[in-house]
Amino acid sequence: MTVIRGATTIAEDTPEEIRAAVKELLEQIESRNALKRDEVVSIVFSSTSDIHSFYPAKAAREAGFESCSLFSAQEPDIDGGLRLCIRAMLFIEKNDTPHHVYLHGARALRKDVAQKFNVAIDGPAGSGKSTIARMLARDYHILYLDTGAMYRACALAALRAGVDIADEKQVCDLMRGVSLNVVYRDGEQHTMLGGEDVSDLIRTPEVSMAASAISKHISVRMKMVEKQREIAGKMSCVLDGRDIGTFVLPDADFKFFLTATPEVRAKRRADEMTAKGYTVDFEALKREIAERDRQDSTREIAPLKQADDAVLIDTSEMSVEEVLRTIKSKMQEKI
Ligand code: DC
Repeated sequence: MTVIRGATTIAEDTPEEIRAAVKELLEQIESRNALKRDEVVSIVFSSTSDIHSFYPAKAAREAGFESCSLFSAQEPDIDGGLRLCIRAMLFIEKNDTPHHVYLHGARALRKDVAQKFNVAIDGPAGSGKSTIARMLARDYHILYLDTGAMYRACALAALRAGVDIADEKQVCDLMRGVSLNVVYRDGEQHTMLGGEDVSDLIRTPEVSMAASAISKHISVRMKMVEKQREIAGKMSCVLDGRDIGTFVLPDADFKFFLTATPEVRAKRRADEMTAKGYTVDFEALKREIAERDRQDSTREIAPLKQADDAVLIDTSEMSVEEVLRTIKSKMQEKI
């Protein structure tokens, strides 16, 4: 008799998510262990106490595990434990070495089985990177690092100090005295300049343009890149930016490059800003995005560019859910 372990996480407690997650987990266990259904004697499931809407055992029955015995139990609520997690233990009628399978956020449970991984999402402004990166990180229970926010914070510091952003020496002197950090509260990134949380202040059009201009200076870039590599080296995370797949993490486990037409990107930015209460001049916003595209893709160091091994996704006609589904299935294919 062999025992195979597996675990996965879901994004929300719905019967559809549970059915899909259990099916995916069992299929992965089957394929990685070259299992036949009639070799499975029984499966014991346990799930965290935030899962109420469906029995994982029932999902397994529906997924075609018809003849083995099935059982579901609920785990105690442990402080700091993984959320929305389903674990499975399969008892198998053969004596091979088991290959345990840990998917999505549950990869964090068994670092020995599931390695740390990084996801690079690059693309121009308004291509949907940050929305997708945030959702992906949430679903996989890993960190989201918004690298644009770091350049934005540098730009804000320069604008406040009144230095000439085009002058690398002035910018560099200023940056030496600036402490820039990213911290996480309730899973959300907060960008700190000194002790001040500037997360909202860095979202204005003025800061966007200045961030694009300041990011071309090598001294600024290397300082930011060093911090980004340090964070990504320690833990699994999704990073979004312009140069993650090409320069910051050329060996990232998964790489995506998102694009969309300039019209769609400007419309997304306009909607975002209107929702935040800003008055938007759509034509001016379109010009700003075009100018940033030009600046970001023509700079000398680490320009905005698709890595050769990145998956290109044109999000112009896709919903957020479709983009997320496409990315997850591409990642699954590679695992
Ligand atoms: O992603 P964003 O719009 O917040 O980024 C603001 C600017 O920062 C962008 O126009 C160029 C720069 N940037 C960069 O050069 N490299 C990154 N990895 C992220 C952003």
